[in-house]
Amino acid sequence: MKKMEDYVRSIPDFPEPGIIFRDVTSVLQDADGLHMAIDKMQELLADTEFDVLAGAESRGFIFGMPIAYNLHKPFVLVRKKGKLPCETVEKEYDLEYGKATIEMHKDAIKPGQKVVLVDDLIATGGTMEAAAKLVEELGGEVVKIIFLMELAGLKGRERLKEYDVESVICYEGK
Ligand code: PRP
Ligand code: MG
Repeated sequence: MKKMEDYVRSIPDFPEPGIIFRDVTSVLQDADGLHMAIDKMQELLADTEFDVLAGAESRGFIFGMPIAYNLHKPFVLVRKKGKLPCETVEKEYDLEYGKATIEMHKDAIKPGQKVVLVDDLIATGGTMEAAAKLVEELGGEVVKIIFLMELAGLKGRERLKEYDVESVICYEGK
């Protein structure tokens, strides 16, 4: 029986020397891997009551949407700047080189709603920290943040220490 990590292809020295790139395309390209990923992420929510699932563009959409569908919850898009047509709130965050900005529609979360955030990977935690702040700015409560993969060496979990964070696979390194 294959384990979840068996479906993740690891590419050494990408995008730069010393980095091991954990590739989700190899999970998605395998029907069993795809099922296992969604099922295992969904299991992380077994004891969580929530109203809305929100996923971060773009890989967070891939993993978040099937979970929202399965659990019959609404799905909210946390998008990269300039893509959402209505009134938005936005937050800038640090990338390894430079900065990026994400946005949410102002009406995506109603005050008091319990929100679960989803992404494929936590590295530095910058993306999800920004997403969590946006949810809170809209009056939502972040009740859990889930990932398929965690790069523990980058200490993203420390950045998200005020939240309940869980991942399916935890890699020791970066
Ligand atoms: C990657 C990954 C996470 C984020 C993790 O997304 O999918 O969203 O980086 O890094 P962090 O924890 O340091 O913020 P990327 O911005 O490369 O975009 P993509 O999902 O559109 O591929
Ligand atoms: Mg991403």
